[in-house]
Amino acid sequence: MPSNTLTITDNRTGKSYEVPVENETIRAQDLRQIKVNPQDFGLMTYDPAFMNTASCKSTITYIDGDAGILRYRGYPIDQLAEKATYLEVAYLVLYGELPNKAQLADWTYNVTHHTFLHESTKHLMEAFRYDAHPMSMFISVVAALSSFYPEAKQVKDPDVRQKQIYRLIAKVPTIAAFSYRHTRGLPYVYPDNDLSYPGNFLNMLDKMTQAKYEPDPVKEHALDVLFILHADHEQNCGTNAMRAIGSSMVDPYSAMAGAAAALYGPLHGGANEEVLKMLTEIGHVKNVPAFIDRVKKKEKLLMGFGHRVYKNYDPRAKIIKKTADEVFKVTGVNPMLEIALELERIALQDDYFVSHKLYPNVDFYSGIIYQAMGFPVEFFPVLFAIPRTSGWLAQWVELVNDPDQKIARPRQIYLGADQRDFVPMDQRK
Ligand code: CMC
Repeated sequence: MPSNTLTITDNRTGKSYEVPVENETIRAQDLRQIKVNPQDFGLMTYDPAFMNTASCKSTITYIDGDAGILRYRGYPIDQLAEKATYLEVAYLVLYGELPNKAQLADWTYNVTHHTFLHESTKHLMEAFRYDAHPMSMFISVVAALSSFYPEAKQVKDPDVRQKQIYRLIAKVPTIAAFSYRHTRGLPYVYPDNDLSYPGNFLNMLDKMTQAKYEPDPVKEHALDVLFILHADHEQNCGTNAMRAIGSSMVDPYSAMAGAAAALYGPLHGGANEEVLKMLTEIGHVKNVPAFIDRVKKKEKLLMGFGHRVYKNYDPRAKIIKKTADEVFKVTGVNPMLEIALELERIALQDDYFVSHKLYPNVDFYSGIIYQAMGFPVEFFPVLFAIPRTSGWLAQWVELVNDPDQKIARPRQIYLGADQRDFVPMDQRK
């Protein structure tokens, strides 16, 4: 008998079945042959939240959660964060290889020359209240781009797809910056093609009356590193949304608006915002032990801790901590840092956190750096969405080209009422 198979005995019928094991996985469809009688639908698996279900094959990002490893296309995240720029990493994530000099020049040129938004977008932005959450504006404007580029519907055409990739990677910083300026009541700043990707973003956020904006090199570099760390993270909630929506063959703007909406949630990309709120609520180092007690009593979540996949220190959190030191040299230490360090110190030696394998994740320190750099708390999830655009698009292209994929359509276990007759209004309880 071949060893790469699984033998299943159905105790309801006494029958045995042999199903292939490939990549340490069985195909859920292979279970459908397991039936009690010929009319039976066949055995299904029940897996809420996809805790143990692979929804795709992918060659983009590798994570070993127990060992704390993260690699994009085989390259360790720490090497990329130290040696590459975000635009190089975005190219790598999207196309599978690091760009050579000519490829990088071409990629940079194309991204740089798609940064402008249609002028009508400004009217759309103006419809939002002065205090609208920047992520709501970001999601809405990404969705609206679908109406500006109707050809994007041709998702099977590689040239059309490529054009939308340039547009999305190029325009997300502009959308983000417009949403920031809107909440501040400031005029929008147009992109400056002489600047780097993060440098231009800082320009669109901060430029006031100066003829030429010159980004602070430490902030520009820190932002680039943070962008690299957030580029992709395999099948998380937002990416799963991108793939699920994209599987209906809708245009990438509509799919990405859904992915960004998923990212907005406090358990996902909204966690960095929640970390800052939590640190503000704790207020002082002396209040940390009492807060930890409340977490252990399950009255509170320790935001920025825990991960579905990492059961060890999130490798991104380690790199962020180093970047934080560089930023604080310029900006001065964020008062929240002291509380964060104390929370981390206590949590890492507390039985509850050790036994639950709860370690700081990427969001624990990113918010503290963002705050030190002067970003308002509500803006943090947007800073996550900008670089994640490259991951979403890479995963979307992989999905569209994958012959195994079909429209995403899970099954359910129906436990509701059996057939019953309609009850007229005067007879209802
Ligand atoms: N604080 C306190 N307890 C926690 C936490 C936390 N942050 N995270 C998990 N636990 C407990 C949880 O209550 C459960 O306890 P028990 O087994 O006693 O019932 C146990 O740890 C296992 O948790 P889980 O249910 O397996 O975790 P999950 O995989 O469903 O959830 C998570 C992962 C990230 C949603 C969760 O850890 C969490 O809510 N963390 C806080 C929010 C956060 O920081 N999110 C950012 C994630 S990283 C960036 C991103 O992906 O967007």
